[in-house]
Amino acid sequence: MGSATTFTPRARESLWLRGQRAVLVGREDELSLLRLTAARVQRERAPQLVTIFGPAGVGKSRLLAEFEQGFEQARVVVGSCVPYGDGITYLPLAEVASALAGILDDDRTEVALMKLKKSVEETLPTEQVERV
Ligand SMILES: Nc1ncnc2c1ncn2[C@@H]1O[C@H](COP(=O)(O)OP(=O)(O)OP(=O)(O)O)[C@@H](O)[C@H]1O
Ligand SMILES: [Mg+2]
Repeated sequence: MGSATTFTPRARESLWLRGQRAVLVGREDELSLLRLTAARVQRERAPQLVTIFGPAGVGKSRLLAEFEQGFEQARVVVGSCVPYGDGITYLPLAEVASALAGILDDDRTEVALMKLKKSVEETLPTEQVERV
């Protein structure tokens, strides 16, 4: 009979954290590419899209974690795709925008729009605000 190992959520979390703390092996090229892209975003104040893909367990999350740690001051905002449902195409972007603007699920549309507008005005240079 095969043996399966089970972990409590807490034990799983601690295993994962231990994994995270193991010395990073390789990935210099990937990290350089991400850092160069981030520097360009900062310089040009324009977004860039990077796709990280690979088989399960290959190190996608770890690469991101290492990349994030390279910033003294940064705001990391996460939006997730879901595998099913209607009207989900822009869900990750909506999550990111809501988090940045402080929009709550039960905000009325006009309140949400006001918060979004304020956030855009605070974040972008004036000449880009109207376009957005
Ligand atoms: N370059 C690396 N050096 C050392 N450890 C690594 C490296 N890449 C990944 N690991 C470790 O391997 C394990 C799996 O990596 P990770 O969780 O990043 O994979 P993943 O691609 O995000 O997997 P999934 O597709 O399941 O989300 C983690 O414990 C991680 O810390
Ligand atoms: Mg992962």
